[in-house]
Amino acid sequence: MKEQNDNNIKTLEKISAFAKRRGFVFAGSEIYGGFVGSFDYGPYGVELANNIKKVWWEAMVNREVNIVGLDSAIVTNPKVWEASGHVGGFSDPLVECKECNTRSRADHLLEEIEVLADEKMTVEEINQIFDENRQKLVCPKCGQKDFGAVSQFNLLAQTNLGNFKDDWASDPAYLRGETCQGIFINFKNVVDSTRVKVPFGIAQIGKAFRNEIAPRQYIFRKREFEQMEMQMFVEPSKDMEVYKDWKEKRMQYYLDLGFKAENLRWHEHENLVFYAKAAFDIEYKFPFGFKELEGVHARGDYDLSQHQKHSGVSMEYLDPYTNEKYVPHVVETSVGVDRTFLAVLTEFYDEDDLGGDKRVVLRFPKKLAPIKVAVFPLLKNKPALVEKAKEVFALLSEHMRTEFDDNGNVGKRYRRQDEIGTPHCVTVDFETLGEEKPELKDTVTVRDRDTGEQERIAIDDLLEYLR
Ligand code: GAP
Repeated sequence: MKEQNDNNIKTLEKISAFAKRRGFVFAGSEIYGGFVGSFDYGPYGVELANNIKKVWWEAMVNREVNIVGLDSAIVTNPKVWEASGHVGGFSDPLVECKECNTRSRADHLLEEIEVLADEKMTVEEINQIFDENRQKLVCPKCGQKDFGAVSQFNLLAQTNLGNFKDDWASDPAYLRGETCQGIFINFKNVVDSTRVKVPFGIAQIGKAFRNEIAPRQYIFRKREFEQMEMQMFVEPSKDMEVYKDWKEKRMQYYLDLGFKAENLRWHEHENLVFYAKAAFDIEYKFPFGFKELEGVHARGDYDLSQHQKHSGVSMEYLDPYTNEKYVPHVVETSVGVDRTFLAVLTEFYDEDDLGGDKRVVLRFPKKLAPIKVAVFPLLKNKPALVEKAKEVFALLSEHMRTEFDDNGNVGKRYRRQDEIGTPHCVTVDFETLGEEKPELKDTVTVRDRDTGEQERIAIDDLLEYLR
């Protein structure tokens, strides 16, 4: 088997065109000219995204003795976002082009000329750096160099859901900007309703919304996206120990999925927010370079303390072993479904030559493959073959996502399945019917995606073989 292409050759244009052609990702609202920062997952995309979430949930909830799940509301009491600091401080530095009025992120423009503006800088500090570099900064839309001053733009998306005032905009509700606030506000409920004891974790998968000024790099930065977050609640003196464990576990998770070690690396935050004790990101080598895939952060007791202060409800935990009372510290792992999706597409996309045939093949690990097995009748116009193939489809589809395909010749069907990463194809032929060699009756050909090799397997053994 040929070595996988280098990620630099897997350009974003190539990956996104492929993802559209094969029904993985479509531009949002395409028939209306699109909607910036919005994307829809197609028939194979939804399967891949569901598998990404399933694999994460299995690793973070099913296989952990002390982590439980949660599904909290997207729209909450607005006080949640005041307490969390999002209403006051969740913003990006925005700058407007005076020529064409295009709004850009000041830190992104600076990044283009390789000047780093740290996310923790004040607006005054960014303005100063921006002014020092004005001569070199160009508007990405019109190419002019005439910008206004940098201001802070709040990223929380507002809604009037449940708010019937005429001037709701002055007193809005918000779509959640991160899923973990739903976890913090349910900390007490989970402690009181289950047998969990510190240290324990709460995991959640769900949509989050941010009014990103400049969504870019395809599904990497969207306005509506999905997060998979887990917060471990720990005794204050133990947080760095737990943090170290989760740092190791989360990197190993990607390696176990089949990611190459050279495409992953750690990035340590240089300026920690005042409450954080440690913050590292796992970066993946996307087609546009190494960028954040997941954050692993030690957040101290900031979140629970803020909610305690703003709600007036105690977030203290009474340790049943020591009788000590404390507000637990939080160790968080947080990753986007969409970013994982893009990383997975990039990592496992490949082009090779199989028996003289050029092909695109997604070398997905089986757990992630949208379709686990495809079933073909050798010929479409032979009812006995079609009927038998449908029987095999019924047998397999009860246990795994199976596709039935009788379009075109078998070679073409193989190519189609390779392109969507299906690990196995099963063909029902005349031998299955026992017409030529009676000893092969009720056996099928199973073809392997990566090697193209074929094996004859009895239908009775098929499920066991595929599993
Ligand atoms: N609770 C912590 C938190 O939300 P974050 O670094 O802002 O931290 C965590 O987001 C993860 O969510 C990121 O590592 C990324 O995978 C994903 N994410 C954040 N903003 C995103 C966006 N606009 N589009 C897609 N994914 C995003």
